[in-house]
Amino acid sequence: EQIEKGGYEHFMLKEIFEQPKSIHDTMRGRLIVEEGVIKMAGIWDHVEKFKNANRIIIIACGTSWHAGLIGEYLIEEYARIPVEVEYASEFRYRNPIITDKDVVIAISQSGETADTMAALKLAKERGAFIYGICNVVDSSIARITDAGSYTHAGPEIGVASTKAFTAQLTILTLIAFKLGKHNGNLGNAEFMSLIAELEAIPKKVEEVLSATHELTQDIAKNFVKATNFLYLGRGYNYPAALEGALKLKEISYIHAEGYPAAEMKHGPIALIDENMPIVIIAPKKGHYDKIVSNVQEIKARKGKVIAVVNKGDRQVSEMADYVIEIPETSECFSPIIASVPLQLLAYYIAVYRGANVDQPRNLAKSVTVE
Ligand code: AGP
Repeated sequence: EQIEKGGYEHFMLKEIFEQPKSIHDTMRGRLIVEEGVIKMAGIWDHVEKFKNANRIIIIACGTSWHAGLIGEYLIEEYARIPVEVEYASEFRYRNPIITDKDVVIAISQSGETADTMAALKLAKERGAFIYGICNVVDSSIARITDAGSYTHAGPEIGVASTKAFTAQLTILTLIAFKLGKHNGNLGNAEFMSLIAELEAIPKKVEEVLSATHELTQDIAKNFVKATNFLYLGRGYNYPAALEGALKLKEISYIHAEGYPAAEMKHGPIALIDENMPIVIIAPKKGHYDKIVSNVQEIKARKGKVIAVVNKGDRQVSEMADYVIEIPETSECFSPIIASVPLQLLAYYIAVYRGANVDQPRNLAKSVTVE
């Protein structure tokens, strides 16, 4: 096992550090920037299904559901196809309206999650075209879908999903750009600049890993005794906030909630006092001014702000108690980049609390029963 961990203390840390490679592997053979193309047979062979779809419904659980939410932002923004994102467990039991004009995408690292599988079967019975985004090759979900794309993240051993999540985001980005280019919603110049930026994401993730590894350890030391955490973000980074909170709660057992930052006023603000740590994702491109006022409101109530900002940020950084800098990107890529320090932060808080990071209590890597 020590050899498999490749010198890292836990699989989770190893997998966090594998992300430059796993994101790159997920794009390999698909993203060919010099030719200005994205090659994805699963999409291309059925492109008319996607193009003519009434809507795309994404079904998933847990972290994969968070990836699905970001997929909604991506596909609606770039391909202009309506997207709905559903928890598989809710979808399967609410007698959903599905027609043969719907495309249902299931996202699952393991490809074995019982609820996701059952939801897919239901969608298939009702005539939808079903597509899978799985990490495990030849898994049950991969086998029952009409078509799909594998995330090539490699085996994920840690129960808390890390590299599979960023690989799912990579696939969803490729799908959104490919469909957008095909149906004419994404012009050539923008497409070319986005795919060039996407190609450079593994490098940026590598930079973030080295720039934030020690920093997140130092920050984590201050929150070993915390009992609650709030995670806030807007737009693309609202689901990234949900995912940050899930990572923390599942491995450290600290209660954490993710919220869209603007919803703070509608309830969670009542929780804020000097004992409440708040992680706020505030990149420049992504409703920055609105986030600035959210941070002001938090500081007026003495909350402890851990801000994830772009390099050289002033306004939020001056108010924050702890600052984590990430490189600037187009907004659609920021959840990939912002997730990395949040994974490290959750990891180190859990390690300092003496938790079993790779196998948290009560959790299974793949939930094959209801
Ligand atoms: C992630 O950290 C979780 N352990 C969990 O939420 C997981 O994402 C969920 O069970 C879905 O699993 P799947 O992707 O294998 O379907």
